[in-house]
Amino acid sequence: MKKFSIVVAGGGSTFTPGIVLMLLENLDKFPIRQIKFYDNDAQRQEVIAKACDIIIKEKAPDINFIYTTDPETAFSDIDFVMAHIRVGKYAMREKDEKIPLRHGVLGQETCGPGGIAYGMRSIGGVIELVDFMEKYSPNAWMLNYSNPAAIVAEATRRLRPNSKILNICDMPIGIELRMAEMLGLKSRKEMVVRYFGLNHFGWWTDIRDKQGNDLMPALREKVAKVGYNVEIEGENTEASWNDTFTKAKDVFAVDPTTMPNTYLKYYLFPDYVVKHSNPNHTRANEVMEGREKFVFGECRAIAEKGTAKDSKLHVDDHASYIVDLARAIAYNTKERMLLIVENDGAISNFDPTAMVEIPCIVGSNGPEKIVQGKIPQFQKGLMEQQVSVEKLTVEAWIEGSYQKLWQAITLSRTVPSASVAKAILDDLIEANKDFWPVLK
Ligand code: NAD
Ligand code: G6P
Ligand code: MN
Repeated sequence: MKKFSIVVAGGGSTFTPGIVLMLLENLDKFPIRQIKFYDNDAQRQEVIAKACDIIIKEKAPDINFIYTTDPETAFSDIDFVMAHIRVGKYAMREKDEKIPLRHGVLGQETCGPGGIAYGMRSIGGVIELVDFMEKYSPNAWMLNYSNPAAIVAEATRRLRPNSKILNICDMPIGIELRMAEMLGLKSRKEMVVRYFGLNHFGWWTDIRDKQGNDLMPALREKVAKVGYNVEIEGENTEASWNDTFTKAKDVFAVDPTTMPNTYLKYYLFPDYVVKHSNPNHTRANEVMEGREKFVFGECRAIAEKGTAKDSKLHVDDHASYIVDLARAIAYNTKERMLLIVENDGAISNFDPTAMVEIPCIVGSNGPEKIVQGKIPQFQKGLMEQQVSVEKLTVEAWIEGSYQKLWQAITLSRTVPSASVAKAILDDLIEANKDFWPVLK
């Protein structure tokens, strides 16, 4: 059986060790001969890499492992790029979240002005990875989950329309795990779903078991009461995420014929979100004090001890969707998965050039879209506004246009007026001057 060579771009990510452990658990399904890490921050990456080197030597010594900041070394002789970079790192995420809050607007990693700011940083970084891949391994595929995925996907559609890049998000997977738990199913893969939307902006319209039985009625009863807030074995969900899972019941109430993505809370209840935010301590602070501290601490401990034997780092089971996706391409499995793809008629009454999140059948030649038909007025209206935010952001980046970025922020449902949008934009420009193109 062929063994694959992969490069993890954003080797220094907090998610890298969990993903490596997940890959090592799945070697029977997806054999690997080589893992490379690539990052543009050598020091950050080295901490994670030294620990992963030990983990790989202990669990799968046959795998060749290297880490580098040199693109040619990283991207030569590879089959897959697994990309999760965060341009500007947590220091800039913190600003994305705190600057809008200073103006009374919610601050979020991928939604509202914070997500737009992050998008303006990510586009160049992700396009650079695509170009490295095409230069050094033209037959490779990029599996991209770098955020903000909606804006990044639109940018790759515009700028690299023929590149082999698949954009995917784990939020629907995380929610489906909770649905499966509520329904008493052993696996979320027992559900066959219909879904439509934009990334972090979508709805399930149909959920059935493999026999075709409708699971929506039972789910509705539960979600109306607790949202998606259920105990998941082995998962210690943080308070802020539990709040998001609970709030899903209010999002659900706005249209009980569908099941909402949790991220809709930011668009439908922005006042609630602002009221429950601490402008001096946002999610970026929680992540730096929590996940980042834990992962980097554990990695340093592994390097010091020279063994990962009693490490508390755990397999990122969530991330096994990455193996499902790589296997679909490598083995033509025709797995049905939600991907972010160009609409092109799949949602028949929506912009054909929009990057939408819908079920696709994935095989060796990429995704085949499953038509979701016409969508209702309520969702269509919301999506038309949001997709315009995303398209204007990408146009602003390409053209260096202040005007278009102002329009993008003004159009976001999270922002009350053009004057507030302008004030936020001017602060964001100042904060992002090392990352954004110059806007005129
Ligand atoms: P992190 O800051 O810990 O890691 C990101 C790494 O990317 C850092 O080591 C940084 O140095 C590196 N990097 C930044 N710019 C780069 C560039 N231009 N080239 C190469 N490397 C670069 O962040 P994290 O919290 O671990 O998240 C990583 C990414 O994964 C983020 O974009 C996050 O939003 C995304 N994510 C996406 C999903 C999804 O559902 N799509 C799920 C989880 C995380
Ligand atoms: C979900 C989303 C990701 C997002 C992450 C944020 O998994 O799908 O797109 O990056 O949540 O998690 P964090 O713990 O960093 O706030
Ligand atoms: Mn996501």
